Amino acid sequence: MDEITTLFTRRAGIRYPIICGAMYPCSNPELVAAVSESGGLGIVQPLSLTYVHGYEMREGLKYIKSLTDKPFGMNIIVEKSSEVYEKRMQEAVDIALEEGCRFFITALGNPAWVVEKVKKHGGVIYHDATERKWALKALQYGVDGIICVNNRAGGHAGTRSPEELFEEMYDLGVPLICAGGVGKPEDFVKALKIGYAGVQMGTRFIATKECSEKSEYKEAIIQAGEKDIVLTERVTGIPLSVIKTPYVEKIGTKSGAGARFLLRNRFTKKYMRLWYAWKAIKNLKKISLSGYSTKDYWQAGKSVEGIHKIESVKEIITEFVGLYHERSLTE
Ligand SMILES: Cc1cc2nc3c(=O)[nH]c(=O)nc-3n(C[C@H](O)[C@H](O)[C@H](O)COP(=O)(O)O)c2cc1C
Repeated sequence: MDEITTLFTRRAGIRYPIICGAMYPCSNPELVAAVSESGGLGIVQPLSLTYVHGYEMREGLKYIKSLTDKPFGMNIIVEKSSEVYEKRMQEAVDIALEEGCRFFITALGNPAWVVEKVKKHGGVIYHDATERKWALKALQYGVDGIICVNNRAGGHAGTRSPEELFEEMYDLGVPLICAGGVGKPEDFVKALKIGYAGVQMGTRFIATKECSEKSEYKEAIIQAGEKDIVLTERVTGIPLSVIKTPYVEKIGTKSGAGARFLLRNRFTKKYMRLWYAWKAIKNLKKISLSGYSTKDYWQAGKSVEGIHKIESVKEIITEFVGLYHERSLTE
C-alpha cells in the first residue's frame, strides 16, 4: 500500500502516521514490534517492559529489534518523582539511544534532559500536551512536535475535543498528533483531515492479537460503548479513563476529601502522587497478570465506540490506510 507522508512520518522514518502510544501495563514487546513492522511507530513503555513483561531494558529492546528492523520509539514520563525513578529513566534513554532508538515521547513534566540527550544523537522528541500552555513550555525546551491529548483519550485524558486542540495549537509551527478517540478507520481519516500529522492510539491496539493482555480485558473493550467510559481519580490521583465495571461503580470515581486536600498542597502533592503511583503499579500489575476480577481497573478511552473485534495490528493499519487512500481518490 502507498505511504501516507506527513512531516511526522518523514522525521520518524516510517510509512504511515500511526503511533501505538505507550501503555502501562499493556505495551508488551510483541505489540510494539508489530506496529513498527506494519509501518506505524510502536512505543516502548520502559516500566511496562521491565516490571510487567519481565525484560531487562537492553534485552527487551534487543528482542524488539529481533522482531522488526523498523524504527520504534520510547515513552518517558518526566514528572519529578524519586531519585531512583529518575535514574532509571535516564538509563532507559541512554540504553535506547545505544540500541538505535531515535524517537522519544515525553509526558507529564519538563522534557529538557531528554531533549539534551536525544538531540546529541540527532533524534526526535514529541511531548504530550492537553493545552497550549503546556505545549509552549515543552517547545521552549526544544521538543520537535506535540501529541495533542484530547478529552476522548485513554490513560490521562485531556479536557478539549480534537478539533478544539487543533484550533488552539495549529499555529505553533510543529507537527501535531491527535491522541484520543481514534478507534476506527473513519476517525483516522477525520484526524488527518482536521490537519493532524498523525494519530496516537492506545485502546484500539489493546484489542489485538499481538497484545498480551487477558482476553476478558479485550472483550470488555469490544463490548463497551462510549457511555461506559468514566474518569476516576482513585488510581493515580489525577483523572484516569477506565471502563465502568461493577467495582468502579461500587467504590466511586472521586478521591476522598483527605486525599484531595493533600493533592492540592504544593508540598504533600508529590508524596500523594508517589503513593498513588505505587498503588497503581500494584493494581495494574495485578490486572495484567491475574486477568479479570471485578476489583480491576481497565483503562480505555472513548474510542471503544468504534472497536468491534479483535484483529491483528496489520489488519487494523491496512484498513485505516486503505480508507484514507479510498477517500483521497473520491474527493
Ligand atoms: C492502558 C493505557 C495505558 C497508558 N499508559 C500510558 C503511559 O504509560 N504513558 C503515556 O504517556 N501514555 C499512556 N497512555 C496513553 C496512550 O499512550 C495514548 O495517548 C492514548 O491511549 C490515546 O487514546 P486512545 O486510548 O483513545 O487511543 C495509556 C493509555 C492506555 C489506554
